Parts: sequence; C-alpha cells; structure tokens
Amino acid sequence: MAKLIGFKKIKTSVFISGRGSNFKNLVRFSLTKNSPIKIFCVISNNLNAEGLITAKKYRIKKKIYDSETKIINYLNKNKIELICLAGFMKVLSKNFINNFKGKIINIHPSLLPKYKGLNTHQRVINNCEKISGCTVHFVSAKLDSGKIILQKTVKISKKDTPSTLAKRILKQEHILYPKAIKKLVASL
Ligand code: GRF
Repeated sequence: MAKLIGFKKIKTSVFISGRGSNFKNLVRFSLTKNSPIKIFCVISNNLNAEGLITAKKYRIKKKIYDSETKIINYLNKNKIELICLAGFMKVLSKNFINNFKGKIINIHPSLLPKYKGLNTHQRVINNCEKISGCTVHFVSAKLDSGKIILQKTVKISKKDTPSTLAKRILKQEHILYPKAIKKLVASL
C-alpha cells in the first residue's frame, strides 16, 4: 500500500438495506491509516435500516434510494468513484450499472458462482456442502455474476445451522471486503 501514501483517497458510497455490519466495518476500515478509500455517503433503500445508525455515529451523509435518477445524479454530482454494495437488497438496473461501469462491487455470502441469490446458507446446508465462504465481485447486469475480485472459504461442520454458518461467514466477510478493496485499488 506504500504507493498510496499521499494519494487522494477514493470517494466511496456504500449501499445498504438492513443491519449494515459490512458498512460499519468499511467505515472503520476507511478510517485506518493508509486506507485507500474515504466513505462519502451511505445510500439505503430502507428508511429504517439499522445500518443508518452507523452513518449518524460517524457523521456520514445518508440518502434514501427512492428514485434511480435522483441517486445517479447525486452520485455523479459528488464524483463518487466507487460503490460498495453491502447487503443492498434491491437489484440495480442495467441503466444504473452502465452509469458506473467497473465501479460497483458487491459482497456475497457464498463461493460464487455457486449459490447466487438469496438463502445461500440454507441451500448450502441442504446440499450437504463441506465448504462455503464469501465473495467480493464486480457488479454486472446479471445477478451475482460479475468478475470475482477475492474469495474466502469457510468449512462447514455437521452441526452447522444456517445461522451459525452465516455468523462464521460474516466474520470472514469483514476481513475480505477491505482486502478486496485494497486489491482492486492496487490494480488501478
Ligand atoms: C451479508 O451476509 C452480505 O454478504 C449479504 O448480505 C449480508 C449483509 O449483512 N449480501 P450486513 O447488512 O452487512 O450486516
């Protein structure tokens, strides 16, 4: 990361819908020494998202995703360079994605390309998988299908339930997302 010292931090927006633990983790990461990003704003499509408390605590601007056009204009006006989806439950339109080509990334709680979509942990357990994990990837028009940036595997034990597995994977998500951002920035 040495080459980043003295460089301008990447102006980032995080999109959330609920709990926001990845958002909180990214905020903390952005405040660490030599972090390549600064978080300018959080966008939520849910007015009651728990994660918005973090925005208040860290004085990060928040916007409610009510109209796509408004959000695109807001992000453009503020020259947002990176969009991190973190538990954002709304599927972004092709138009939105084209407006920010190569600048939108997402974290997904499975080893993509396996288990795209929702209820990943339940499906993984139903299929008696031995490993699962998480993936940070670019967002493309096809759901959970963009180029993979980084993955981390997590072993599944016979005793695992969807919620115990989710908890262990979430812990790894919090390590993986900052790592993937560093990797992405280093490749620019
Ligand atoms: C995470 O498991 C993430 O991988 C998935 O949704 C969950 C969001 O959790 N896309 P949180 O809101 O970041 O706590």
